[in-house]
Amino acid sequence: AAIDKKLAPQPENDKTTQLAAHTADASGEQMNTNTGLPVNNDQNSLKAGDRGPTLLEDFILREKITHFDHERIPERVVHARGSGAHGVFKVYKPLSEYTKAEFLNDTGLETPVFVRFSTVAGSRGSTDLARDVRGFAVRFYTRQGNFDLVGNNMPVFFIQDAVKFPDLIHAVKPEPDNEIPQAASAHDTFWDFISLMPESAHMIMWAMSDRAIPRSLRMMEGFGVHTFRLINAEGKASFVKFHWKPLLGVHSVAWDEAQNISGKDPDFHRRDLWDAIESGAFPEWELGLQIIPEEDEFKYDFDLLDPTKLVPEELVPVQRVGKLTLNRNPDNFFAETEQIAFHLGHIVPGIDFTDDPLLQGRLFSYTDTQLTRLGGPNFQEIPINRPIVPVYNNQRDGFMRQTINKGKTSYNPNSLGHNAPQQVKETAGGFVSYRERIEARKLRVRNKSFFDHFSQARLFFNSQSDSEKNHLIDALTFELGKVKTVAIRIRMLGILKQIDKGLAAQVAFGLGLHVPADDELPTNQSIPADGDPADYQSVQ
Ligand code: HEM
Repeated sequence: AAIDKKLAPQPENDKTTQLAAHTADASGEQMNTNTGLPVNNDQNSLKAGDRGPTLLEDFILREKITHFDHERIPERVVHARGSGAHGVFKVYKPLSEYTKAEFLNDTGLETPVFVRFSTVAGSRGSTDLARDVRGFAVRFYTRQGNFDLVGNNMPVFFIQDAVKFPDLIHAVKPEPDNEIPQAASAHDTFWDFISLMPESAHMIMWAMSDRAIPRSLRMMEGFGVHTFRLINAEGKASFVKFHWKPLLGVHSVAWDEAQNISGKDPDFHRRDLWDAIESGAFPEWELGLQIIPEEDEFKYDFDLLDPTKLVPEELVPVQRVGKLTLNRNPDNFFAETEQIAFHLGHIVPGIDFTDDPLLQGRLFSYTDTQLTRLGGPNFQEIPINRPIVPVYNNQRDGFMRQTINKGKTSYNPNSLGHNAPQQVKETAGGFVSYRERIEARKLRVRNKSFFDHFSQARLFFNSQSDSEKNHLIDALTFELGKVKTVAIRIRMLGILKQIDKGLAAQVAFGLGLHVPADDELPTNQSIPADGDPADYQSVQ
């Protein structure tokens, strides 16, 4: 049915006004070339005679085709398939006890946001209904700069250290010889890696659960995954886990439905989000915080720096502190959804990092990949990436520079430049990294506090209802059933056994195998050594 656009008012805020200055509407306008020449005919090339060869002189043909030839940029190396929307965020009450971030204190502020949801493994054109983790990346255009909360719809991750990320992604992406399968984890290389990586046990329970096949992007939770820090005006820090709670609730489809929908409408989630916003049924989430006092850092039987662990809500309740509303579809998919460059290094005063080794590596990876994906060092000048505040610093030049910086100087300190930007005192809002005390040796290891891989996996499995458990067992049986190498299936059963014996037995039954005894696990491939193998074994 036709959607009544009048239902969806076009909201005005600093970001939409800023973007509007860059939009082009050609209705009723005359066609011209990129240099402004009015075009008389763009449907016939210039030829020598009416049946003759096309002339090299034809700059109109050349310009049109050249631009077309360069329309594509590399897709994201992960999270390539995405859907985006504009919106606003409002905090319910000032959070000054925990953070000095203005957008988390001023209840009168409507902070503009852009959100991009994504699948992880598939390419740009792959189906929305793949069994996969979903990206949930939120950019807040605050008056103190952009803050990006680059999370997923699951609260934990597969690996504990970013150095393993290329391995994880090489394993899950299509296999390199034949580029099969598209957008699916049901293949040998993925399960080979997972079965050798016991730290992924908790995440694999989430990834095989109904959470991996959402009914709608509007019905997913979001999680910042890592532990971050909030810092208040007195410089006091608290640990924090970020959550998004959908007001429509959390809903999934069954695997049979997912496969059916994939065939009939691979854009199912994208269409659902677009249509909802277009019709004025604006999706909403509440921002949730789990706040952990700094003094409680070592209170738990898991490490707050370990991204394969969550903080159970029974131990630290989630406080709902504000609301996100998505209320405007992008005008142009490429310009906005494709060119946005999220980075969890985009923080504002009042929010800071922790030493989670996955988080630390991510701080390097995003800008690095965007330098290639978006063609050089000036991608922050692309309209969707600009902060709502003007930018003044001494960075200059590079491919596609847009800003025309005035003045003779682009260095600091200098005594010549009346245009030189001034550093900002901390008391006036200048960003200062949290003054964490560090006294340590340089070591390439992992702390033993990261070694319990199965307790929370078991906790998750036990938290599932009977039908959810059955879905999980069916998912594992389906996925492992696609694995050709029997030794991988057996090793995976060895992992499942450590989570829950009944789970392992049921998956084994579905696969026509038996759960291996410890001494039946393929010896050279049993449990991977990590750091000191002796330490590792001692905690099993
Ligand atoms: C992209 C989340 C771990 C590298 C993304 C996106 C999300 C995300 C949501 C898509 C952003 C968008 O919509 O544009 C996460 C979460 C992680 C995680 C929640 C773990 C807690 C990592 C790690 C690395 C990494 C460990 C590398 C060491 C990348 C890269 C992209 C990406 C290279 C593509 C960015 C771009 O092309 O703009 N991630 N990620 N991620 N992630 Fe991660």
